[in-house]
Amino acid sequence: MPLVFFKGKEIECTNGALLKDVLEDNDVSPHNGASRFLNCRGLGTCGTCTVKITGKVHPHTRVEKIRLNIPPHHFDDGLRLACQVVVEADLHILKWEGFWGQENPDNRINGL
Ligand code: FES
Repeated sequence: MPLVFFKGKEIECTNGALLKDVLEDNDVSPHNGASRFLNCRGLGTCGTCTVKITGKVHPHTRVEKIRLNIPPHHFDDGLRLACQVVVEADLHILKWEGFWGQENPDNRINGL
């Protein structure tokens, strides 16, 4: 059973579970702010469920490749759509800032 680490939680889930479902079923959202309510509900079109993943994960799906190449996202940021990621191994999840989760907090200059 894979483990998902996110926002201080250690969540055990079924192998093959959808990451977005795993998080939301455990009261942690892959969305920031209002995007928690204003999102595509897992269609892969809104781009608000982006997360940075450390761990073994399948390659980007076709839907992810399309959406993550549309601003404000930049495919090279290496983000994933939680609604498209199938959990098959232990994963450490980080959520960036901004409505779409597109702002890497490590890129802030002097806290701005
Ligand atoms: S919920 Fe819209 S892209 Fe994942």
